[in-house]
Amino acid sequence: MTDDASCDFLVKIVIIGDSGVGKTNLMTRFTKNEFLGDSKSTIGVEFARHLITLPNNKKVLAQIWDTAGQERFRALGPNFYRGAKGSICVYNITNLDSFNNVERWITEFNKHAESNPMSILLGNKCDLEDMRAVTTAQGTSFAEKNNMLFMETSAKQSTNVTSAFESLLIRIT
Ligand code: GTP
Repeated sequence: MTDDASCDFLVKIVIIGDSGVGKTNLMTRFTKNEFLGDSKSTIGVEFARHLITLPNNKKVLAQIWDTAGQERFRALGPNFYRGAKGSICVYNITNLDSFNNVERWITEFNKHAESNPMSILLGNKCDLEDMRAVTTAQGTSFAEKNNMLFMETSAKQSTNVTSAFESLLIRIT
């Protein structure tokens, strides 16, 4: 168990994006260093808390809300975004539709979150380079236009996952 009193900041962040892009696995990789090859689709929302000391020595208790990407849960989104200081907005680099839907996700998040939230755009599944459908330049360009941080990640191979969460938390705190 984490001890709330031992942290300098308590930060709520939500993970958003289409179903199947890897949101749950990014969370479990970050909080438990686990990858679930056969994870089930999230129903509603799942939570995790993770106490982390950032490279700048701040101690942050991140309260992470892993939301469901399936369309049937879409209407729940705004309830989950309230009070969030940041989002991790995820697409799958092998699925162009999931990238095209990022705009919808981030617009909705910005409408309902705390004022001036910070977000990071993640192109996940970068281990599947042979199947790539979205270029790194497309991701970078969207992130720049929308004032977001950007990284490509692999929850499977543990590429950039900790740095993605840390970069967002550094910007928020
Ligand atoms: P919803 O809960 O439906 O919104 O999906 P999600 O975005 O949480 O996706 P989830 O983490 O459940 O992953 C979906 C599938 O993609 C699973 O079969 C994972 O094993 C796989 N997956 C997740 N991340 C990666 C990755 O980085 N690389 C590869 N190759 N597969 C991944």
